[in-house]
Amino acid sequence: MKLQGKVALITGAGSGFGRASAQLFAQEGARVVLVDVNESAARQTQATLEGSESAVVAADVTRAADTARMVQAAVERYGRLDILFNNAGISVPPRPAEDVDEETWDRIMAVNLKGVFLGCKYAIPVMKRQGGGVILNTASVAGLRPRLGTLPYATSKGAVITLTKALALELAPHRIRVNCLAPVAADTPLLRTIVGDDPQALQSRMASIPWGRLATVEDVARAALYLVSDDADMLTGVCLPVDGGRSL
Ligand SMILES: NC(=O)c1ccc[n+]([C@@H]2O[C@H](COP(=O)([O-])OP(=O)(O)OC[C@H]3O[C@@H](n4cnc5c(N)ncnc54)[C@H](O)[C@@H]3O)[C@@H](O)[C@H]2O)c1
Repeated sequence: MKLQGKVALITGAGSGFGRASAQLFAQEGARVVLVDVNESAARQTQATLEGSESAVVAADVTRAADTARMVQAAVERYGRLDILFNNAGISVPPRPAEDVDEETWDRIMAVNLKGVFLGCKYAIPVMKRQGGGVILNTASVAGLRPRLGTLPYATSKGAVITLTKALALELAPHRIRVNCLAPVAADTPLLRTIVGDDPQALQSRMASIPWGRLATVEDVARAALYLVSDDADMLTGVCLPVDGGRSL
């Protein structure tokens, strides 16, 4: 059991990578705080964690008060917070830069970037007090190698990669590791907001991945487990592609 006795908070835990990671972290002994703006989705995840200790917190990661409350809920319930997994994110259908409206830009940045910052902001004092912790952020291969038409999404994820490195530097003296994942396309509801139901769009994504398939939520959860576990004790400031070679 790689996470025995640890307390892990996961945002976006109601679906996709967040749900799969919650399941794997719980199997590995973690007590998991499941955070999502969609409370019923988080409860559905909780229902799959048989026999594991978990809590659900409905929170919107774009709101400072909500992110403060989610961290507080973890500490009140379990007395500590060892792992913060900032994973919630959104995307939009591809479009040329000049057709991106201001509201869309702001919304993407608010969820994908500010949400990560706010999670860190409120977890850091807790982790400093404890003498250490681990932060993991979900970036994207889009932040390393953007696709056409993904300007706000790719930019937000590129910024998450930089945030991760800057924070890793700042927090190393406090024994807090900070890393991020850069997954390639996986068939989750988020991907459907980009490719819709067009099988050809999905096919062309697949064709651009040297390994020859999309990522699965389990691929991403296993990489997340590695980075948040003590196996990765020497890794900080790393952006780990889970991309079948797409970023090469
Ligand atoms: N699926 C992919 O192809 C892919 C590839 C690379 C990176 N990612 C990233 O992985 C992360 C998870 O994506 P996924 O594919 O599992 O998506 P998903 O749509 O399956 O799940 C995202 C979850 O985040 C929640 N969420 C959205 N906005 C929120 C907010 N403001 N506050 C709290 N929760 C919120 C949603 O309710 C949902 O449950 C995202 O950051 C995404 O950008 C996804």
